[in-house]
Amino acid sequence: MAQSLKALEIRAKNDIKKAKTLEELDGVFRVYLGKKGVLILLLKSLPRLKATARKQQGKTANALKEAIQELVQKRTQELQRKDTTRAEQGEWLDITIPGNKLERGHLHPLTQVQRKAQEIFRSMGFAVAEGPEVESEWYNFDALNMPPDHPAREMWDTFWLEEEKHSKNTKENFVLRTHTSPVQVRYMKEHTPPLRIIAPGRVFRYEATDARHQINFYQLEGLMVGKDISVAHFRAMIQEFYQKFFGKKIQVRLRPSYFPFTEPSFEVDMTCVVCGGKGCSSCGHGGFMEMMGAGMVHPNVFKVAGYNPKNWQGFAFGMGLDRLAMMKYKVEDIRLFYTKDLRFLQQF
Ligand code: FA5
Repeated sequence: MAQSLKALEIRAKNDIKKAKTLEELDGVFRVYLGKKGVLILLLKSLPRLKATARKQQGKTANALKEAIQELVQKRTQELQRKDTTRAEQGEWLDITIPGNKLERGHLHPLTQVQRKAQEIFRSMGFAVAEGPEVESEWYNFDALNMPPDHPAREMWDTFWLEEEKHSKNTKENFVLRTHTSPVQVRYMKEHTPPLRIIAPGRVFRYEATDARHQINFYQLEGLMVGKDISVAHFRAMIQEFYQKFFGKKIQVRLRPSYFPFTEPSFEVDMTCVVCGGKGCSSCGHGGFMEMMGAGMVHPNVFKVAGYNPKNWQGFAFGMGLDRLAMMKYKVEDIRLFYTKDLRFLQQF
């Protein structure tokens, strides 16, 4: 037993020295002095020895127990000192350092413009309506006085979706709506005149992009129906809208145009604010920016909605919200709104 105690002493001292962390040291302590530790079991077996051997071995084993306890204590202090030094060298927490400033986000400029436009139209008594972005061919074209094969359908380069077969073996074609005008019909079918609505939303066109054209962009449709609504009402209303939106009087120009769902039809331009009317790439070098299409609702559209065109008349318009944002913020290229470049977006 004397020999095994000596071997135990050497092993224990070595293990204590090798322990690199407090957890490892605790493990070593348990191996020797834990409840079922080697030395503890050995001490428990002493009563089985003869009296003289018991006395002698007991003394040595108890001395070893104390030595191990002392070494573990010393090593604990060493390791604790190391921990403190490491913390002092960098891992400490300075609670007086000011925190990192959290960046505050904000609404996208197009959303800001849409909300501002909505707010102005609301103040003029217009309600807000909505329609689906995936639209049936019928609402996007037929209901707007463009039956199949009508040449005016070519005015909008269309993303066609797969046709849907219905249970009774009838087929329906769908498109990504090319404009917000289908919402006019959807709303009129559900409501009786007089009425005033706007319908803002995303539209899609399968066309080449440039400084003024995007493949998907935002429009805001407007519709006002009453007994004696005229072009003069439209002109006054749109002038008032621009005055409120830009905070100053804006020169607008009504140009005769053609849309199958309005008669007469016109386009509304404003002086390009990017070049001040001199002509630049943003306005296609014409000095004017085309802001919207508009006109007096065609009798055929009223008929589709179930209104008697002899009793009702009204104006409709579809303004490009991206173009409005370009003019408000003097942005030269519409595509910048879709780049997700924070250096651009943070300016608004
Ligand atoms: C229409 O979409 C008609 N639905 C507007 C309308 C509504 C007419 C009600 C009459 C009555 P147009 O294709 O011209 O028309 O588009 C209307 C406006 O959307 C344009 O004046 C322009 O401001 C904007 N716009 C058109 N194409 C693009 C495009 N590719 N990118 C960005 N804005 C566009």
